[in-house]
Amino acid sequence: MSPRICPSILSCDPGGYADPTLLMMRGGADIIHLDVMDGQFVPPITFGADLAKSLSRQGDTPIEAHLMTLTPQAHFRAFTDAGCTRIIFHIETVAHAHRYCQQLREMGVEAGVAINPSTPASALEPLLDVMDLALVMTVNPGWGGQKLIGTCVDKVRAIRAMAPDLAIQVDGGIDPSTIGPVWDAGATDFVAGSYLMRAPSISEGIQELKSACGSKSL
Ligand code: DX5
Ligand code: ZN
Repeated sequence: MSPRICPSILSCDPGGYADPTLLMMRGGADIIHLDVMDGQFVPPITFGADLAKSLSRQGDTPIEAHLMTLTPQAHFRAFTDAGCTRIIFHIETVAHAHRYCQQLREMGVEAGVAINPSTPASALEPLLDVMDLALVMTVNPGWGGQKLIGTCVDKVRAIRAMAPDLAIQVDGGIDPSTIGPVWDAGATDFVAGSYLMRAPSISEGIQELKSACGSKSL
């Protein structure tokens, strides 16, 4: 399989998300990644389902919501109604992760579960029968532009060993110099925010990331 690139709009100018989203869609994005922050689970506040609804009308590229919120289950319906096809919540925020994965599937969307750098890979083991995606945070959530934490790559390897066919996403510090080793460790889906904003163009950045898979240096 080939790597799937999931551009995040987090590093775009908040005054205008539509244009860069269109460039991401036209530039080869596999899915647009929306970082929803509530000011409680993580300090910043970003945006909600209304933005997801507006951006989903920009094109046919699917959109996913990465919910960095307490009580993420309170927002599942709003984001599915807004057109998101994959919803990711943090295991650290809920008491009933298994049931919430089931709920997401019943709503007709893919269920993603995220783990922070301090959460072990084994936390996902009881959920493997109901989840469609593991999101391994490779930075502490809340901000773009941080450096990838190398020990998180070992968790990707551990999850791949537990679940040979599961989609595994990594989020934070992904650029052409870091993506290769994470791909080799077994990740399939790569969130990229600040790198795409500093690339010569968004489409060239997406192509650079895809072609850097196969590089083995970290
Ligand atoms: C961080 C977010 C990321 C962020 C990644 O909490 O979940 O999606 O946008 O940004 P970069 O690619 O700049 O590390
Ligand atoms: Zn994210």
